[in-house]
Amino acid sequence: MSNNSQLSGEVFSPSDEIVSQTAVKDWDALREFAENDLEGFWANEASQLHWFQKWDKVLDDSNKPFYKWFTGGKVNISYNCLDLHAQTARRNKLALLWEGEKGEFRSFSYFALKREVCKFANVLKSLGVQKGDRVTIYMGRIPELPMAMLACARIGAIHSVVYGGFTVEALHERLEDSQSKVLIVADGSYQRGKIVPLKAIADEALQRAATVQSVLVVKRTGEPVNMEFGRDMWLHELMSLPIASTTCSMEIMDAEDPLFILYTSGTTGKPKAILHTHGGYMVGTYSTLKYVFDVKEEDRYWCAADPGWITGHSYIVYGPLLNGLTSFMYEGAPNYPYPNRWWQMIEKWGINILYTAPTAIRGLMRFGENWPNRHDLSSLRLLGSVGEPINPEAWKWYHRVIGKGNCPIMDTWWQTETGMFMITPFPVSPLKPGSGTKPFPGVKMDILNEDGKPVKPDEEGFLVVQSPWPAMMRTIYNDPERYINQYWSRYPGCYLTGDSARKDKDDYYWIIGRVDDVIKVSGYRLGTAEIESALVSHHFVSEAAAIGLPHEVKGNAIHAYVILKSGVEYTDRLLDELRAHVAHELGPIAKPDYIEIVDSLPKTRSGKIMRRVLKAKALGQDPGNLSTLEE
Ligand code: PRX
Repeated sequence: MSNNSQLSGEVFSPSDEIVSQTAVKDWDALREFAENDLEGFWANEASQLHWFQKWDKVLDDSNKPFYKWFTGGKVNISYNCLDLHAQTARRNKLALLWEGEKGEFRSFSYFALKREVCKFANVLKSLGVQKGDRVTIYMGRIPELPMAMLACARIGAIHSVVYGGFTVEALHERLEDSQSKVLIVADGSYQRGKIVPLKAIADEALQRAATVQSVLVVKRTGEPVNMEFGRDMWLHELMSLPIASTTCSMEIMDAEDPLFILYTSGTTGKPKAILHTHGGYMVGTYSTLKYVFDVKEEDRYWCAADPGWITGHSYIVYGPLLNGLTSFMYEGAPNYPYPNRWWQMIEKWGINILYTAPTAIRGLMRFGENWPNRHDLSSLRLLGSVGEPINPEAWKWYHRVIGKGNCPIMDTWWQTETGMFMITPFPVSPLKPGSGTKPFPGVKMDILNEDGKPVKPDEEGFLVVQSPWPAMMRTIYNDPERYINQYWSRYPGCYLTGDSARKDKDDYYWIIGRVDDVIKVSGYRLGTAEIESALVSHHFVSEAAAIGLPHEVKGNAIHAYVILKSGVEYTDRLLDELRAHVAHELGPIAKPDYIEIVDSLPKTRSGKIMRRVLKAKALGQDPGNLSTLEE
């Protein structure tokens, strides 16, 4: 452990109690081990999981940047998540505990979850789903979502989960790009007491997408939905047929076989399908969760993200189940029906670890301390933060009011692409509010300037990763060129994260934000190109530009600039219509907070919109170098 007295700035040290109960205390030793023997470190982690056949090679870097991990190994992540535990004393332990927005709850032991997943997998097989086929999953936060993921994994199908807050065009694009054979969709989902008609949204998306042969519908709300004969089937009906047997043989996968694709917004153009594998992803998520949240057999762990994003994939579903934890999942909004909903559930279920996003903390902070103070939160041992930089004020509120000063905050930096925590504290780390401290053992990172030289302490630069890690994305599905260009071309041998950051004198990392055309809104990752193309798809719009501007709760708010087609009259109603159009096409999270109608947009001579000029103007700042500006 570092000597805190030598650290600069405001430092929060772990209590003696935390130090005494944390399994691994000497992080520097683990870092040193991983630094000296990267393959040995990860082989050690991998050997704690079950392999049908052991790997020949831990890391194959013969075709950089297409790294491979645990080559020759035979494995299935679903086996390690379910079957392994169902054979042990964990058989009757809760794997999944779920509370619906309306207050109902469901729970599944490891044995029961395995049984449901087997039945689900058999249903998928009966629809003709085979190894390597893509299956799109589109629902709210309900137990059938992780079940669907695990069922795909079991039979070697590649799942592509689309966040239930996305809408028609976002779903269509992902269905088409992935060429999905089957769509699993809920009839609807509950959000703040209202019903989101997921099946109706899917019907519209399906009119635009041709590859889907079968649609499995999960009954959640019970509201009437359109069922197309020959295409749409109720999951519960198929699950009650003899085809849905409770045993389902496990597909033996190569370590490098794809597990899932997950679409995320990138620097330019359409969202890209990030591909993760059975072997390396499994080892990375298992190991990072185990160490960072110091997981204990009796823990009740709650990651409050949505399974539709990478945080949910890695740390609601796979990481917790690989560790044999009880993963709690809540369906609804944090402040529904009242701002104490989360605190009430922590008390009721005795949650020990809470992992969430700064935007949720800032949102709940607004309602004041009385709401959490009405509840007994003493079961909490550790807190976590992810998705965007946490401002020190929110960090301290989280630490003092929710953690009562006793729960260290694990501010974990990572990405859809990295699959696992990359910069993170450990329970025993001395913490500085707003910093994720240092890279995970075996992860080599740095901050570089334009010329590729490491920046000096406290200077801002581009955050890069300089060594491979097992849960790294393997490629962009169907687009290896873009994988190379986007991530590996700027600095030779380095993975470009797209974030800017600085390191302080103690080598603590501080993330500043995205340096590309990605906007983080309430922790959700959106691309300016997606918002712009949703705006331009409106028949009155000729051109559009979107930027993110600082927002107290959401981190960033979306500001859009729109050029109308000639002859279209400006009205206030038109602005509402445009905002509603974006919500319909892309999702409510992408709805611009503000739209300005303009006559022209700042562009380079080659026609690229200069968003930084728009941003500087909106913030009243100097726009910097304008030599490339067309006019
Ligand atoms: O900008 C960083 C921010 O979220 C981006 C990755 O977004 P996504 O792929 O959606 O994954 C989010 C959850 C892992 C990063 O490039 N980000 C993520 N975690 C943090 C963060 N920014 C600051 N601090 C974090 N802890």
